Amino acid sequence: EPLQALNTFTTLEGEIEALTGAKKVTIVPGDVDDDERVKWQLGKAGSNLVLSLLGEDDVVAITGGSTIAKMIELMPVKQKGPTYTTIIPARGSIGKRMEYQANILAAEFAKKINGKYEVFNIPDNLSANSIETIKQEPHIQKILQKMAKSDMIILGLGDAMKMAYRRNESKEVIALLEEHSAVAEAFRYYFDQDGHVIYSASNIGLDLEMVKRIQTRIVLAGGTSKGIALMATQDLLKESYLVIDEGAAKKMIEVS
Ligand code: G3H
Repeated sequence: EPLQALNTFTTLEGEIEALTGAKKVTIVPGDVDDDERVKWQLGKAGSNLVLSLLGEDDVVAITGGSTIAKMIELMPVKQKGPTYTTIIPARGSIGKRMEYQANILAAEFAKKINGKYEVFNIPDNLSANSIETIKQEPHIQKILQKMAKSDMIILGLGDAMKMAYRRNESKEVIALLEEHSAVAEAFRYYFDQDGHVIYSASNIGLDLEMVKRIQTRIVLAGGTSKGIALMATQDLLKESYLVIDEGAAKKMIEVS
């Protein structure tokens, strides 16, 4: 019955708050792994939270992925005039699914709130040399500097091996991740279960230290399969706003 469900969730949210040190935990019922419709709930809860925290001239960094994509898709279109809020993709493009790329999502997010956006048109898997050269480009420098001062970051999180295959990482990288038992992936970093960085794909964008310094951090992740990844990235969850589903929450408690 509804009241019972509410009580259960309040307790579960409190438990995850205590476990992670998150500022606020929102848990939606169900499990994305069993039911894709739960992603809708997750997206809606994420959208409500983001809009409640967003300032008029904030700089917001976002990552890609289907969860963040759903959140932006469900965001209502702002009816009032333009805002000075700028959305910046947390990194260059990645993966084959164009509609899940941070670049695209930044533009769509900006459209929804009548704000501004930046894009990083940088292909994946460039050599370290090419990346260094591009990084020095004045317009890239400008975006990076703006990004470093982001007020908010919205990030998706994934299972390490699933993301490595989705991103077409090389055989060497896959072997490295397997050897070191990587379990989590977030904005190009792969972590083991103790939160150590095993590998970070070279590209241009936010680095881990920058992310930790951003005042408002919002993490969106659903599914039992992401429970272990969530626990592995506890450093990121501290003082963050966490939006997860029941499946992920229960797994987090189980493995803690
Ligand atoms: O870094 C992880 C991904 O952003 C998660 O992607 O939301 O499609 O599971 P997903």
